[in-house]
Amino acid sequence: MPRVSILDTEKYFDVNENEILYDALADRGEELPHGCLSGSCGACRIEVSMGADKLSTLGVIEKNTVDAVVDEFNKTRGEEFLNGKTVRLACRAKVLGDCTIKPLK
Ligand code: FES
Repeated sequence: MPRVSILDTEKYFDVNENEILYDALADRGEELPHGCLSGSCGACRIEVSMGADKLSTLGVIEKNTVDAVVDEFNKTRGEEFLNGKTVRLACRAKVLGDCTIKPLK
């Protein structure tokens, strides 16, 4: 059973493999920031600090939104802010193994 940990907190959640990350945490009482829940608004963006390879592959919808989120952050915070970080959408990414995340604000 994969474990999702929230960076900089003591929180972790054991979830079922292949659960959508947002749904898995919401079902366990941890509601992440969100909007559309369909991959288009970017409100559920997260940084994956460990285990990025333990999330499902980006689909086209998620990739387009993540690209827009990264562009926005690069313009507003500078390119070094996200340099080397993995950005995903909690409402699209499925959990395949242990990972550590945090909402990206
Ligand atoms: S909630 Fe809108 S992209 Fe995830």
